[in-house]
Amino acid sequence: MAFRVGVLISGEGSNLQALLDTVHGRDGVEIACVASSRAGARGLERAADAGVETAVFAKAGHTDRDARDAALGNWLDDRRVDLVVLAGFMEILGGPFIRRFEGRLINVHPSLLPAFPGVRAIEQALDYGVKVSGVTVHFVDEGVDTGPVVLQEAFALPYARAVEEVEAMTHEIEHRLLPRAVRAIAAGRVRRDPSNPRVVRVDEPA
Ligand code: GAR
Repeated sequence: MAFRVGVLISGEGSNLQALLDTVHGRDGVEIACVASSRAGARGLERAADAGVETAVFAKAGHTDRDARDAALGNWLDDRRVDLVVLAGFMEILGGPFIRRFEGRLINVHPSLLPAFPGVRAIEQALDYGVKVSGVTVHFVDEGVDTGPVVLQEAFALPYARAVEEVEAMTHEIEHRLLPRAVRAIAAGRVRRDPSNPRVVRVDEPA
């Protein structure tokens, strides 16, 4: 039985592409379906090009966010996903959705959390003038980017740079880190510490 991954996007989908290129169809892991919060997102084309089923769940198409979240959750459950990956999904999901997928919902965020949660994390980091930034993959809980950290990787920012330049550095890391996290979860190599569920143990092959 394949380990089935649903990916949620809102735009470009370069992280989705990394998953399609390096995880999909390998070691028993399938990117089973891709949903976007926005019609016309480039990531939908990337999924279609890989032969992966897609759908759009825009808030505008539903009475409210909870109704959208419920429809999205049903769609993911109908596709029997084992893991849901937020890969540039730029909307808040409500508590019921997060509780429904608790422990099998992860997000990639372009900062070293808990620094700079929320939107425009790279701009926040540049404005603050930090000398080190990075990428976090974390389980999603009901706070904004507050869930237990699965993997993090840092890079030096020795002087202020253009946002686009830091975005490119960030993406380069994301495109390795997110697939690594998905592979580890799919292989059962990720465990929460029973004495402190915030602490996540990831066993990686040497
Ligand atoms: C990524 O850099 C991701 O970390 C960020 O959006 C970008 C999506 O790029 N996510 C967030 O900021 C979530 N708060 P992509 O669509 O090319 O994968």
